[in-house]
Amino acid sequence: MSSTSPNSPSTVTFAQFADSWIPEPEPVEAARERAREFGISPASPATGRFLTFLAASVQAQTVVEVGTGTGVSGAALLEGMTPGGVLTSIDTEAEYQRHAREALVSLGHEPSRARLIAGRALDVLPRMSDGAYDVVVVDADRGEYPAMLDQAKRLLRIGGVVAFLGIGEDDMVADPARRDVEAMAVKELAELMRRDADWAATPLAEGNGMLVACLRRRD
Ligand SMILES: C[S@@+](CC[C@H](N)C(=O)[O-])C[C@H]1O[C@@H](n2cnc3c(N)ncnc32)[C@H](O)[C@@H]1O
Repeated sequence: MSSTSPNSPSTVTFAQFADSWIPEPEPVEAARERAREFGISPASPATGRFLTFLAASVQAQTVVEVGTGTGVSGAALLEGMTPGGVLTSIDTEAEYQRHAREALVSLGHEPSRARLIAGRALDVLPRMSDGAYDVVVVDADRGEYPAMLDQAKRLLRIGGVVAFLGIGEDDMVADPARRDVEAMAVKELAELMRRDADWAATPLAEGNGMLVACLRRRD
C-alpha cells in the first residue's frame, strides 16, 4: 500500500512524468523560450516524444508540418525520421522560422533536411505532390483543420499518418456549449475523421489533446 496520499503535494501526475521523462537538449529548450517570447504554444515535451515515435514508427522519409513555430515539434519529428529524411514545414511567420532553422542546425541537422516555407498552409499545400508523404502534422489555425484534412488525405501515402495537435484546448471539442469558429471547425474535423472509413482515427489525450489517424486506403 502506498504511503503517499493521492492529494499529497509530492504526487507527480502522469502528464508531469511524461513531460520530464526524457530531458530535452538545450537548443529545444531555447526554442521553447523563443516560443514563449512570441506568445505561441510549442508542442509539450511529451507531445514531442510522441511525434518522434510517430515518425520513427512509419520510418518517415518525408514529413509535412503545418505550424513550424520556433522549431520544437520540427526537432522532434526530425529525430524520429530516417537519417536522410526531409521535413517540409510551413508557417505564415518567416521570423519564427528563422529561429526554428537556428534550433535545427544547433541540433546538428543538415540545413537540407528542413525545407521551411513561409506562407499560408492552404496556399502552399495544394502545390505539393499527391501520395508523397509519410506523415502530416498540423498545429496551426484550428479554423482551417477540416480543409487541412482533405489536403492530408491527398498528400499521404497509404499507411501514412496524420496528427492534428491542440484540439483539446479549452474544452474545444468536449464542451457542447462552445460554438465559436475554432471549436466548430475542430468538432467538424472530429466528425469527418470518425465517419470516413478510409482513416483509422483516434483521439489521444496527449499534451493538450490530438486527433491522429492512419490512411488505410483512398477511395
Ligand atoms: C502553436 S504554433 C506551432 C508550434 C510548433 N508546432 C512547435 O511545436 O514549435 C502555431 C503556428 O501556426 C502558424 N500558423 C497559424 N495559421 C497558419 C496558417 N494558416 N498557415 C501556416 N501557418 C500558420 C503560426 O504562425 C504559429 O507559428
